[in-house]
Amino acid sequence: MNQAAPITKATSDLGRHVLDGLGRTPKRLSSMYFYDDRGSELFQQIMALPEYYPTRTEFALLTTHRAAIGEALRPATGEPFFLLELGAGDGLKTKILLRYLLDSGARFTYVPVDISAAALEGLTASLRAELPGLQVEPVVADYTAALALMAARPGRKAVLFLGSNIGNFLPPDRLAFLRQLTGPLTADDRLLIGFDLQKNPRVIRAAYDDAAGVTAAFNLNLLARLNQELGADFDLDQWQHYTDYDPLSGAVRSFVVSARAQTVRFAALDLSVDFAAWEVIHTENSYKFTGPGIADLAAEAGLRVEHFFTDEQAYFADVVLAPLA
Ligand code: TRP
Repeated sequence: MNQAAPITKATSDLGRHVLDGLGRTPKRLSSMYFYDDRGSELFQQIMALPEYYPTRTEFALLTTHRAAIGEALRPATGEPFFLLELGAGDGLKTKILLRYLLDSGARFTYVPVDISAAALEGLTASLRAELPGLQVEPVVADYTAALALMAARPGRKAVLFLGSNIGNFLPPDRLAFLRQLTGPLTADDRLLIGFDLQKNPRVIRAAYDDAAGVTAAFNLNLLARLNQELGADFDLDQWQHYTDYDPLSGAVRSFVVSARAQTVRFAALDLSVDFAAWEVIHTENSYKFTGPGIADLAAEAGLRVEHFFTDEQAYFADVVLAPLA
């Protein structure tokens, strides 16, 4: 039954990742592999959970402050500009801003950037239907390549990185990423970054450990994916989801936990991995930020905080950053 899946480019990337991540101490796997079809469906369900506040909070924040955010992003001169978005997803939040800018007569081109051509095609089709007046120029590339490419075009670049994706980097990688983003920008360009803020630790922890168990299913789906794509034999009844939040570092960390000593075989990799009882695989970091922490991070990356937009409860912030030089 445990027929090894044929090794394609995609499975070999995943295979290399498993060889590296499960060869480490402590073991880890990257959250970038959560989002197969089932994982994407489960993440849609997470975003609708009562406990998962980030998505709906940022949506409300963008709705409330769309005019001020729009004005902060477009050049005061009225000149045409580019609105770039890194990892646009379904564009639900961005459409609020796009609508405001179109209605207020801004002259701009929306440039959604993603490494998935399929994701961009879906988004572009829905934009053409819903916002027919919008100029869209999707770019299939990684973020750094896309920014370098766009730097050559005349006009302001306003770069969106929403949804607190910034929280999924470890601190050194976060700074390196921001510096890379900032590198090709000029003093006239702007970044708008979403940051999930530190708050009641119980509220944060619950967002990553919901009562209905959807987050658990999402986290464990990674193991199901390895079973399907690498011919692994994870027995999902012997694995649990575990999450902690550390208010000192601001880190939510997610794990899958081996409920007993067991060996997992990966047929497609000709690999066996031993797990001790209660050994964990670390699957995700979701950092939460403070206002001063964001200002420090900006300064280290060569940026300054120009506007700080937040919701009534100060749960989430969309921050407009400008290059220092
Ligand atoms: N990375 C996203 C976040 O930090 C998505 C996410 C929600 C997630 N719940 C999770 C990732 C649980 C891993 C485990 O909010």
